[in-house]
Formats: sequence, structure tokens, C-alpha cells
Amino acid sequence: MGTPAKHGKPVTLSIDGFDVTVPEGTSVLRAAAEIGIQIPKLCASDNIEAFGSCRLCAVEIEGRRGTPASCTTPVAPGMVVDTNSTKVRKIRKGVMELYISDHPLDCLTCSANGDCELQDMAGAAGLRDVRYKAPENDGLANHFAARNTSGEANPEWLPKDDSNPYFSYDPSKCIVCNRCVRACEEVQGTFALTISGRGFDSRVSAGGAGDDFLSSDCVSCGACVQACPTATLQEKSIIEMGTPDRSVVTTCAYCGVGCSFKAE
Ligand code: FES
Repeated sequence: MGTPAKHGKPVTLSIDGFDVTVPEGTSVLRAAAEIGIQIPKLCASDNIEAFGSCRLCAVEIEGRRGTPASCTTPVAPGMVVDTNSTKVRKIRKGVMELYISDHPLDCLTCSANGDCELQDMAGAAGLRDVRYKAPENDGLANHFAARNTSGEANPEWLPKDDSNPYFSYDPSKCIVCNRCVRACEEVQGTFALTISGRGFDSRVSAGGAGDDFLSSDCVSCGACVQACPTATLQEKSIIEMGTPDRSVVTTCAYCGVGCSFKAE
């Protein structure tokens, strides 16, 4: 969605037949949200700049070719947007099929079950089945081992990184949306994370001497965990005790971050 445009002259456009007026510079995705139209998204979030990588937020715009990402497309006067055409629904379903074809199918036992944006978006896209099967996908262990570009099982690629005392990193659940990397840069200003590798081998890397979170520049602020849409980066307390049924947001006297204290 990207950070909101607060200034700029008003721009009026039509989204799914409804007129909306927002400040110049606002994304189509945010303008739609202003009138209650939730365009499916994965790589965009409220507090980081739009990135435009997942393509789930594709829309059709009258007079424009293709299906632009609404999170990176600024509004324009008189723009006519269709967020739910047959074409964009088909694209979204195809995108979600590709994501799910490369993701563990363990939702029922996953610690993020019920609190997972990938799961929500699969539902929003109407995904019921996945046509694509990865090579040797007769078992998930084989599937992920087969992703090494050398063709050999890479025992170093799969293991969870449990080195940080507060959160866990599970690369098998990563959809490489880059939200954690951008949160680390834009929210915290730490620049501890990056994406290493290419294609199926792409993964979040904490760098540092041991390539794990504990030996990296990570300051355990939790911005990456907050930004993660799946169970890739998750608080250990949630993994062990489940999602709290309520949360209290507070700012303590010792720190201006305004962290979210969660209590059961
Ligand atoms: Fe727009 Fe991912 S949410 S491209």
C-alpha cells in the first residue's frame, strides 16, 4: 500500500464505479482502501514504501495497457479503475498458485494458521487447487531439497535459524516479499537484512559472521517480525504458546519506539 500521501492537491478518480478524492501521490491501492475496497496484496503494507514485487494487487485502468500494480501506481484525475475484472481475478489466482506451489502445505499445524496473509490471500483469490508441482514433489522434504541449484540436497539451506532469543526464522515459509528487509531499513534504519541468491534459492540473509540473526547487525527490534506476512519470521512466544487473544499497545518511558506489548 505504501506510506500515505498526506499533502498534495486533491485528485478525484473512479474505482469500481465509486468516486474517491485523495491527495495527489496516493497509490490506487490506498485510494481503494479509503472507500472500503480491499485489493488483495502481499508485498505492500501500511508503514513501508510500496515495492511492487508480488503483482497480486494488479488492476485494470481504462485507457492503459496491461494490468499495473495498484500499490505502485499513483492516482490521476479522472482515472477509471477496475479492481475485480475477470482478467485481474485470473492473474491473482495464477500468482497465488505459484506462491503456494513453492510453500509447505502444513497450514493446519503451522503456528501462523489463522494469522497468515498468504493463507488469507489464497482464500481471497479463490484458490482451491494448485496445478503446478515442483520436481520430486512427492514429499515436501524432497521438494525443498530439490530447490538447490546444484541439484543436490543442501542441508544448510533448510534449517530454521533459532539463534535470536526472541524470534525464529524459517526459510521454507519465506515468499521473498522483501517486507522484512524494507522494515529493517525504513522503520528501524538498521540495514541488517538483505535478500541473497536468485530464483528458488532466494532467501532472507542476516549477513554477519555466521549468517544467522544473532551474529548479524540485527538489534532485535522486531520490525521484521511485524512485517512478515507468513510464519517465516515469528515470535518464539507465539510458536510456543499460540497467538494472544488481545494486544495492548503501549510506549514505555525508556524508549520512543512504541512497541506492541501483547498479553494473553
Ligand atoms: Fe502490489 Fe505486491 S501488493 S505488487
